[in-house]
Amino acid sequence: MTQLPASIDAVEILLVENGYVASRALSTVVFLALRLGRPLFLEGEAGVGKTEIAKVIAQALGRRLIRLQCYEGLDQASAVAEWNFAAQMIAVRTGEAEGRASLFTEEFLIERPLLAAMRPQPGGAPVLLIDELDRTDEPFEAFLLEALSDFQVTIPELGTIRAPEPPIVILTSNRTREVHDALKRRCLYHWVDYPAFDRELEILHARVPEATEALSREVVAFVQRLRGEDLFKRPGVAETIDWAKCLLALDVVSLSPEVIADTLGAILKYQDDIQKIAGLEATKLLDQVRKGLAA
Ligand SMILES: Nc1ncnc2c1ncn2[C@@H]1O[C@H](COP(=O)(O)OP(=O)(O)OP(=O)(O)O)[C@@H](O)[C@H]1O
Ligand SMILES: [Mg+2]
Repeated sequence: MTQLPASIDAVEILLVENGYVASRALSTVVFLALRLGRPLFLEGEAGVGKTEIAKVIAQALGRRLIRLQCYEGLDQASAVAEWNFAAQMIAVRTGEAEGRASLFTEEFLIERPLLAAMRPQPGGAPVLLIDELDRTDEPFEAFLLEALSDFQVTIPELGTIRAPEPPIVILTSNRTREVHDALKRRCLYHWVDYPAFDRELEILHARVPEATEALSREVVAFVQRLRGEDLFKRPGVAETIDWAKCLLALDVVSLSPEVIADTLGAILKYQDDIQKIAGLEATKLLDQVRKGLAA
């Protein structure tokens, strides 16, 4: 089992070694969450690396990653555990159930993410990723609040199961709605912003090392300019990475208005945005990018 990092610098190094380039502020809040054993609540635009950080922390610390993907209508049973009715029926049919006091035992339980996260794991407490929390509804949030306060879940037929060692909890939200204050108060909070030029360039180096320095700089500078435009959906880091990969696949060595027009679908996902940027606007942006990079 990997030791928890002893300083903010150590967090930064651990993350970089695993391909994640974090800002100082994010490294700090990760360090504190690990040190204090507090859940980490991450909000931010799409594609800025919220989900990825949980994956990278699990990988870096050699912990199991358990992911609870939230969606509208997610209920406790789907999050904690469900009874395997089919197996119970078979046990009754085959007579295997005879002499048993109950069919509601661990053996017939289908473990879902929250219960799994309360179980001891060989490599140490797991990383529990509660992804896109804003997609669930308030009752589920209230239930989560309870589970995360005591790191325990209750299954009516079985009783309460408590984590021997609290999991490392990371919650993410795209802020399609505000998450309740009570839940936020339990957590350390960080807004994951779009990275500045230098950091996004570092991320691109880490994720698409095959791209030349010159092309990488152009790609990052262009995407950064694009984020300043009035768009319905601004491109995230994920789009920067995708775009660079597309350009490599097309053997592009340098941006041109034609190349941009042909590959805009890698960074913009709405026809209105594409229409707005394609053509003259792209040429203008590319001009600014070239001037900026030359300066
Ligand atoms: N700081 C970073 N260092 C390295 N890679 C990054 C970083 N930020 C983002 N990425 C890359 O961007 C991709 C998208 O990140 P991720 O899926 O974590 O975004 P997200 O914030 O969870 O987006 P969404 O809100 O759409 O779920 C990841 O696969 C990762 O490769
Ligand atoms: Mg995500």
